Amino acid sequence: MNETPGGVDGKNLSREFHDRETVKLVLDLGASFASERRLDNLLEKIVDHSRLLTNADGCSLYLKGADGRLAFCVNKNHTLNINLVGASENNALFTSLPLDPTYVSAYAAIHNVTVNIPDVYDCAEFDFTGPRRFDEKNGYRTRSMLVTPLATREGEVVGVIQIINALDRHTHTPIPFDPHFEFLTNSLGNYAAIAIHNLRLTEEARQSTVLLKEANRDAIYSLAMAAEAKDDDTGDHVRRIQHYTAALATRLGLSREDVDLISLSSIMHDVGKISVPDGILKKPAKLTDEEFGAMRTHTEHGMKILPKKEFFRMAREIARHHHERWDGGGYPDKLAGEDIPYAARIVAVTDVFDALTSERPYKKAWPFEKAMEVMREGSGSHFDPKMIDAWVQLYDEGVLLRIHQQWST
Ligand SMILES: [Fe+2]
Repeated sequence: MNETPGGVDGKNLSREFHDRETVKLVLDLGASFASERRLDNLLEKIVDHSRLLTNADGCSLYLKGADGRLAFCVNKNHTLNINLVGASENNALFTSLPLDPTYVSAYAAIHNVTVNIPDVYDCAEFDFTGPRRFDEKNGYRTRSMLVTPLATREGEVVGVIQIINALDRHTHTPIPFDPHFEFLTNSLGNYAAIAIHNLRLTEEARQSTVLLKEANRDAIYSLAMAAEAKDDDTGDHVRRIQHYTAALATRLGLSREDVDLISLSSIMHDVGKISVPDGILKKPAKLTDEEFGAMRTHTEHGMKILPKKEFFRMAREIARHHHERWDGGGYPDKLAGEDIPYAARIVAVTDVFDALTSERPYKKAWPFEKAMEVMREGSGSHFDPKMIDAWVQLYDEGVLLRIHQQWST
């Protein structure tokens, strides 16, 4: 048995290492591994390159888990036509290993050394019960074995590859691994460890981003609900606006990304109501001119409340302009036509429709048919005609009724 410590330099490499194709293969490994975006693809590639580099019949890969065990991830064997990638519940031979140095893979991981065994049946230093059972079951003969840790240059071992049965290039019969392969697989293990490490960091960053987005959504809902609670609502209005807005934006041909952004932004359209006195918001009668003036300020307040960050740019536009009218008769800026931000024109439709079809302190809920008459009549005066055309389609298809029923308690 030979042992080669990890992280060796290239001084003692034999002439084979300088073989042009081999050098090129090793040099290409870094870029090849780094280009992988999925961990299972990367692990499979590491196994394929290990076999290719050493002209071996089989290779397994284990990753060190948080539980301190070596988890089986990939096993390939050319002769037996085995191609296992992923969890190993269905194969007792490939279950995870404890970090017990009586197993050669664990030994290589613990000591960060490459172990080269000419014939495992003649090696008494490790427990080869597993490979022997594998051989018996599959009619195979495991002979030579090269076990290399996947270790960063700092010595952090993330896993192990176990390559079996180097093949003679002419006779294709198993032979011991040439010692120069120890250095080659060390380099491969180093590239592999860095690629695995980086991929995990990328995955952690992706998950952090997902969590951050969820936290953002939760905060946005809380803010919208706080404003709605003042309006004596269950919060259903906010949800219906979100889904009506998503449906209309989708029908108007916006991209999935834009639909997500506009529907999320729409739920903040009335956050400015948090600044309007309860006596006005909850008044069960027609507002006086003065009260209506106070109510109208919710658009400007909404824009001021929302952060001046790019993520909230659309929400700020909607908050300020969702009461503008296509003919210029709305508030607060009397914008007309396409001067009104697109997202605000969409929410103008969804907000008015939901107000008409919902019960309020001063009115009962209107039937859909009656509300649709008002919407059609408002095309070109209150609303952008293109949007009313799309809205009528959604109504005819029953989409609006489904959303209303789903989000009404
Ligand atoms: Fe409003």
